[in-house]
Amino acid sequence: LAKIEIKLADIPEGKSVTFKWRGKPLFVRHRTQEEIQIEQSVPASSLRDPQHDNERVQRPEWLVVLGVCTHLGCVPIANAGDFGGYYCPCHGSHYDASGRIRKGPAPLNLEVPEHIFPSDDLLIVG
Ligand code: FES
Repeated sequence: LAKIEIKLADIPEGKSVTFKWRGKPLFVRHRTQEEIQIEQSVPASSLRDPQHDNERVQRPEWLVVLGVCTHLGCVPIANAGDFGGYYCPCHGSHYDASGRIRKGPAPLNLEVPEHIFPSDDLLIVG
């Protein structure tokens, strides 16, 4: 199975960078302290697909998700929408900076693929 190695130093704080992995877009987001605080404070029980931020990230600064809308598979746009995370323009799904669905037709959060941080500056997905 194909793995991808990503050097974290290449992704500035506040940016979401798109990679290609197993034929799909992969978003790696370097979250700001403000984004981390906001997402950590959202109670899972208030969500359509209830997951606390802690269940989705291993290191709070780094969100790793597939860039595939869980409605019908379009590629969402980073740093857009009502919740500051991702916005899918196909039918208007809004995701937060934890990749969780907050508004619109998508049923589920953006998928978090298996990943590890073997060192401070390295991410391996797959
Ligand atoms: Fe994203 Fe429909 S495919 S909202």
